[in-house]
Amino acid sequence: MLLCLLLLMLADTLTAFKVTGAMGGVNTTTGARPLRYEIHKFATSGPAFDLLILSLMAFQAANQSNPLSYFQISGIHGYPQIPWDGVPGTGIYPGYCMHAAVPFPMWHRPYTALFEQLLWTHAQDIAKTFPDAQRDQYQEAALTLRLPYWDWALYPSLPDVVTQTEISINTPNGSQTVTNPFYAYTFQSNATGNGFPLSHPLANLSTTVRWYNPGTGQSNQSASNAALKANAPTILSLTYQLLTAVSNYTTFSCTWPGGQSGIANNIEGIHNSIHDSVGGFGHMEYPELAGFDPVFWLHHANVDRLVAMWQVLNPNSFIVPTVNAYGSYYEHPGFVDSATSALAPFHSNNGSTLFTVNGVRSIIPFGYSYPELPDWEMDQEELATNVRSEVNALYNPSMTAAGSRTARDVEQRSADIADSFGHVTLEMAQNMRVNNLERQWAITVLVDRYPLDTSFLIDFFMGKAPDDVTSWASAKNLIGSYAQFGPANVSLLHPNGAPSGQVRSEIAMTHTLAAGVHRGVLKDLSPSSVVPMLRKGLNWRARTAMGQEVPLSSLSGLVISVYSRSIIPSNTTNHFPSYGPLRWERSATESKPYGAS
Ligand SMILES: *[C@@H]1O[C@H](CO)[C@@H](O)[C@H](O)[C@H]1NC(C)=O
Ligand SMILES: *[C@@H]1O[C@H](CO)[C@@H](O)[C@H](O)[C@H]1NC(C)=O
Ligand SMILES: *[C@@H]1O[C@H](CO)[C@@H](O)[C@H](O)[C@H]1NC(C)=O
Ligand SMILES: *[C@@H]1O[C@H](CO)[C@@H](O)[C@H](O)[C@H]1NC(C)=O
Ligand SMILES: *[C@@H]1O[C@H](CO)[C@@H](O)[C@H](O)[C@H]1NC(C)=O
Ligand SMILES: *[C@@H]1O[C@H](CO)[C@@H](O)[C@H](O)[C@H]1NC(C)=O
Ligand SMILES: *[C@@H]1O[C@H](CO)[C@@H](O)[C@H](O)[C@H]1NC(C)=O
Ligand SMILES: *[C@@H]1O[C@H](CO)[C@@H](O)[C@H](O)[C@H]1NC(C)=O
Ligand SMILES: *[C@@H]1O[C@H](CO)[C@@H](O)[C@H](O)[C@H]1NC(C)=O
Ligand SMILES: *[C@@H]1O[C@H](CO)[C@@H](O)[C@H](O)[C@H]1NC(C)=O
Repeated sequence: MLLCLLLLMLADTLTAFKVTGAMGGVNTTTGARPLRYEIHKFATSGPAFDLLILSLMAFQAANQSNPLSYFQISGIHGYPQIPWDGVPGTGIYPGYCMHAAVPFPMWHRPYTALFEQLLWTHAQDIAKTFPDAQRDQYQEAALTLRLPYWDWALYPSLPDVVTQTEISINTPNGSQTVTNPFYAYTFQSNATGNGFPLSHPLANLSTTVRWYNPGTGQSNQSASNAALKANAPTILSLTYQLLTAVSNYTTFSCTWPGGQSGIANNIEGIHNSIHDSVGGFGHMEYPELAGFDPVFWLHHANVDRLVAMWQVLNPNSFIVPTVNAYGSYYEHPGFVDSATSALAPFHSNNGSTLFTVNGVRSIIPFGYSYPELPDWEMDQEELATNVRSEVNALYNPSMTAAGSRTARDVEQRSADIADSFGHVTLEMAQNMRVNNLERQWAITVLVDRYPLDTSFLIDFFMGKAPDDVTSWASAKNLIGSYAQFGPANVSLLHPNGAPSGQVRSEIAMTHTLAAGVHRGVLKDLSPSSVVPMLRKGLNWRARTAMGQEVPLSSLSGLVISVYSRSIIPSNTTNHFPSYGPLRWERSATESKPYGAS
């Protein structure tokens, strides 16, 4: 009997699933690794794209009782509240995902690598089934298949690949139009079978949804696109500044005024905004279900890409031990996260060893890279120079002349503050060289992580908020939205009370002010010009993801502040701007509700 027990224990320790990433297609001579491509480009890749769709279909079709099914992999992030791959939980929260905690960027790295590994494995099987004349081509494409990323800072609307309900591809049986697996995931069971609490507002839906309208029973992807578009200029600036102005990995500053926070915090804020813009009242909005929407994976590949680029630029900065205030399925609140913390439930071998934060610091062992990171053919310095010029070319293409004043812009010059500062598109922000202007302006939000029983957003406007709360997310005079990315129902997840603590995030506002300068209603970006205008025009209001206004007084811990800083603009393609210290512009906010004074 003892022997049996020993054998059982041995078997148990040897059956974990080792997360390796997709290992095929690495050039053993040069070390070159296959790339994760931007989805718009990847969608035209022919065989590789066909395989991506077919593999995702097969992945989603795998029985949800299989630990390697799409359902269970997506479920690692939240519901169902069960262990995965034998890693026991504390039960404090349904998912292993780490948010508002310093390992956030590093936890999602093996998570996307695991997803990619399984997608890749399906692709190998599928490629074999193509007819003789096509098989070699498909097998070659399968070997180098990687998860694409969606660069939302450049393409602020859902990619076509994600919005179409059907998609035409070449299959082993010839050309076919198939149900698009990126549009939605269809659950195989009902809420009980899925392990979702019956009272969760999305529990009974049979597929994932985006801006779901319970009246029509439909997603409204136009609303996702409208919110993405309205937030595009702020996302462009935050993304550029993440890479160019933030040099500390760790600082997770919740002190006030607190100065600047580090990449772990800032990338999460940007990422939250995309989750909420895409999701509305839908799966992407809520961490406990977000992993089921297939666009989650394209989004997180991009988050990982930004982090990987940042790491090349800041090779010596990494995690400093920090308290995790909120906990996860694996960690109790109060646990101190450090470089040696385990990233549950991801095993680094077939035994019982979990990856640590240190163990995923580099992307190299996972067998993929990004277009900006050909690390096998450059040394550290060359790679950093390459990243700088790529980042400038993508997010601060400032070497071109400033945009000329178009008839449309002048037309919008108006006595109405909302009109004179509003209607700023991504293209206008780019033409105004928004990331290279001599002074940068931003709003910071400090608020409790769980002040309400549901997920919420705070919208910032120049001029008055529109009367209809449902139009706020895409209002013409929206500066940007602060997104909480909280659960649909906090007390359902935390029946014994939610952990307390504050979170911090930023909204860039240079685009709004630059539009005012451009249209001649603001003299320049200096504090003496801008602050009186903000005192007059800056407003904020809060709403739930379901579209109800929330009184600001119910958002405990709320402090809104404004800062500006001077910059020396970038003048060559491979240099970044240099940023001056933050200047807290208290008089811009002191007379407003929950404004810093
Ligand atoms: C070890 O993990 C790999 C995945 O990397 C998996 O294919 C294999 O089945 C696992 N081995 C055992 C014995 O579980
Ligand atoms: C590896 O890269 C070298 C140099 O680009 C190339 O000549 C070679 O064919 C590659 N090997 C494979 C297996 O792709
Ligand atoms: C999945 O497997 C379970 C258990 O083997 C079975 O009862 C169920 O019908 C299967 N579901 C589907 C959709 O095939
Ligand atoms: C191709 O045809 C075979 C045989 O009819 C069928 O089993 C398979 O599901 C088809 N595959 C696709 C991708 O349509
Ligand atoms: C859920 O599905 C199971 C079968 O899988 C069935 O027994 C149960 O009645 C269903 N529950 C509801 C509420 O429909
Ligand atoms: C989901 O369906 C179950 C069973 O029909 C019901 O009890 C529950 O109230 C529903 N949940 C929601 C949020 O509508
Ligand atoms: C979808 O969202 C758009 C943008 O917010 C809105 O204009 C439209 O009325 C919505 N459509 C439906 C059917 O709700
Ligand atoms: C980053 O922040 C941490 C914690 O606030 C601090 O201890 C560390 O010195 C900072 N590192 C750098 C390079 O500024
Ligand atoms: C959350 O769930 C609890 C318990 O099921 C319920 O009392 C509460 O009304 C729900 N809150 C929201 C915002 O849905
Ligand atoms: C570019 O800016 C740097 C300082 O940021 C300055 O030293 C240098 O002279 C500038 N070069 C040109 C060509 O203007």
